[in-house]
Amino acid sequence: MSADRLAGRKALITGGAQGMGAAIAKDWASLGAAVCVADINEEGINQVVEEIRAAGGQATPFLLDVTSEEQAKAAVAHVVSEFGEINLLLNNAGVNKPTIYPKDTTKANYDFIMDVNAWGAFNVMTQVSKQMIEQGPRDYVYKIINVGSILSREAFLDVIPYSMSKHAILGLIKGGAKALVGHNITVNGYGPGVVRTELWEQLDKDLVEIGMFEKQGESMDSLAENMILMKRYSYPEDVLGTASFLASSDSDYMTGQLIMIDGGMVLH
Ligand SMILES: NC(=O)c1ccc[n+]([C@@H]2O[C@H](COP(=O)([O-])OP(=O)(O)OC[C@H]3O[C@@H](n4cnc5c(N)ncnc54)[C@H](O)[C@@H]3O)[C@@H](O)[C@H]2O)c1
Repeated sequence: MSADRLAGRKALITGGAQGMGAAIAKDWASLGAAVCVADINEEGINQVVEEIRAAGGQATPFLLDVTSEEQAKAAVAHVVSEFGEINLLLNNAGVNKPTIYPKDTTKANYDFIMDVNAWGAFNVMTQVSKQMIEQGPRDYVYKIINVGSILSREAFLDVIPYSMSKHAILGLIKGGAKALVGHNITVNGYGPGVVRTELWEQLDKDLVEIGMFEKQGESMDSLAENMILMKRYSYPEDVLGTASFLASSDSDYMTGQLIMIDGGMVLH
């Protein structure tokens, strides 16, 4: 891939301290983008930024809780003051905590997941799009990328609030595409399947704890064997091609779309 494919892109990446967000931040920087790595995990963002800078890329850290309107506004202002403008958003921060429905369902669990995954994404997209509109039209397309999931189109009994939150991402993509198209902003997204990240390591432990699987490691292998056409789970590297495609001008004539990157798990 061309080393300047994302030259001129000034990006905010939420949840960039680890997992897929960190992998994408490093990849986009290597393709010429300037990236703001934003997360609640201060140590993580500083480490990712250091790695990017050491490799010759342009990056800045920002401590951001996506559920805060004030912090989302401040993150956008930070990107503008560091890079001159913002023209790309990866709305990636996300959490999960499985519970068996309905017996173990609690409002606290529902609120925790919906607050970060649905409200947080809506909140950050709102602040970023306001800034893009204020900046006015450019000779390139502004890009917003929201991270969904296989659970934007499916649901399982132990992750119903998470499925609800990721279905909300689909609504955000479709509604955002319609609301922002007149400002030369496209809104798309992708839906990973089973990706080996810290989120899944924790989920794997939680699934054993609630009795869905007997031992650690079993959940990912079982899903790969029984539900993924390609018979393997994925790694953050597996989403890089689609993420950079959606960030680049190659996807300029696309909006309102959610692309699955799941090895063939959800075919609708
Ligand atoms: N891992 C998977 O199998 C999988 C599958 C489908 C979708 N996803 C989605 O992909 C995205 C990235 O997941 P991942 O697996 O890399 O997870 P991860 O846990 O490795 O990384 C998520 C990051 O989000 C950050 N975060 C959590 N709450 C936040 C908040 N309130 N404000 C700011 N940052 C916050 C965390 O600190 C963490 O750095 C998430 O939206 C997740 O729901 C993951």
